[in-house]
Amino acid sequence: MKTFKALESVKTEEGNKTSIIEKSISDLPEGDLLIKVNYSSLNYKDALSASGSPGVTRNYPHTPGIDAVGIIEESNNSSFKEGDSVIVTGYDLGMNTAGGFGQYIRVPSSWAILLPAGLEEKDSMCLGTAGLTAGLSVFALDKHNSHQGFDGTSSIVSGSTGGVGSIALMLLSKLGSNVTAITGKDSQEELLKNLGASEVVSREGLSEMTRTPVGKSIWDFGVDVVSGNILTLMLASLKPGGAVACSGMVGGPSFESSIFPFILRGNALLGIDSVEISLEQKTQIWNNFASDWSLDLSHTVREVNLENLDTEISTILKGGQVGRVLVNLN
Ligand SMILES: NC(=O)c1ccc[n+]([C@@H]2O[C@H](COP(=O)([O-])OP(=O)(O)OC[C@H]3O[C@@H](n4cnc5c(N)ncnc54)[C@H](OP(=O)(O)O)[C@@H]3O)[C@@H](O)[C@H]2O)c1
Repeated sequence: MKTFKALESVKTEEGNKTSIIEKSISDLPEGDLLIKVNYSSLNYKDALSASGSPGVTRNYPHTPGIDAVGIIEESNNSSFKEGDSVIVTGYDLGMNTAGGFGQYIRVPSSWAILLPAGLEEKDSMCLGTAGLTAGLSVFALDKHNSHQGFDGTSSIVSGSTGGVGSIALMLLSKLGSNVTAITGKDSQEELLKNLGASEVVSREGLSEMTRTPVGKSIWDFGVDVVSGNILTLMLASLKPGGAVACSGMVGGPSFESSIFPFILRGNALLGIDSVEISLEQKTQIWNNFASDWSLDLSHTVREVNLENLDTEISTILKGGQVGRVLVNLN
């Protein structure tokens, strides 16, 4: 039986430990597509899975990796044939199903999307779940605003040096919005401006600019991955009719607000899920990135292999990553 390399996280008395092991194809779960993974990417959730977070992964040993792109080697579904390039993100991949930090995955065909024309395999994982989530956030904000586009609007993005944040910043800026980037990393101001930020504000600076429960109306749109006080402040500083798309909670699961932004300014808080939504919704976002939303991510992506992924996992858990980490499985 063919073997392949995978990162494996194991529970120990001192917490979870990761190592690179040889696995057999027969170790993979049931599924109608066997995929040779070429690239994956590192998301915050992968780091939670690798480090033993029970909210993400219940059973160990386990191979994380919520993202994968690769070539189909075996298919039991007539919509997919051997040699097709497919993207798999979300659903149970990398949570309790062996994920993209292994050179092979076996998954249900209902999780896979044919790689759209116009997107290279590598580009799709430079985006990964972070890009999909940024895209879904921007799509939801545009829909909220009756698809009037972003030209001349103002936006605020939190966690702006991170995966979701940096891609949301680039996309909103490309679409014509003036973006304020919120960051905890003063040293990254120049990078954020190069990515398209018109203004860079520290987390503390945002507190100084904003009063709660409602302060000055500053932004039309917000993309938030932090929650906590940052989300409180974003909601308090929207323009009438404005909205925040929230997807993350690196700053904690709870936030305080009041009814005022909602009833005095008609503001909205839009929840974003990139995991369990339909394949059609995911496909729409991937097609956008393959065409009108095409982004040059070369300044924000670092390529690593399985052997040096452990260091990157520790960095992302501390909120220290800048941009995206592409994982080359070849
Ligand atoms: N809903 C979904 O489907 C979905 C999909 C993808 C991700 N997410 C969630 O979105 C969040 C971000 O994911 P990611 O992959 O983009 O992570 P990431 O690459 O680690 O980015 C998070 C960024 O948030 C900032 N940050 C970190 N800790 C913080 C803290 N304590 N307070 C304030 N800001 C902090 C940092 O940026 P600065 O230093 O620039 O501030 C960090 O780079 C996570 O909670 C993740 O689980 C949800």
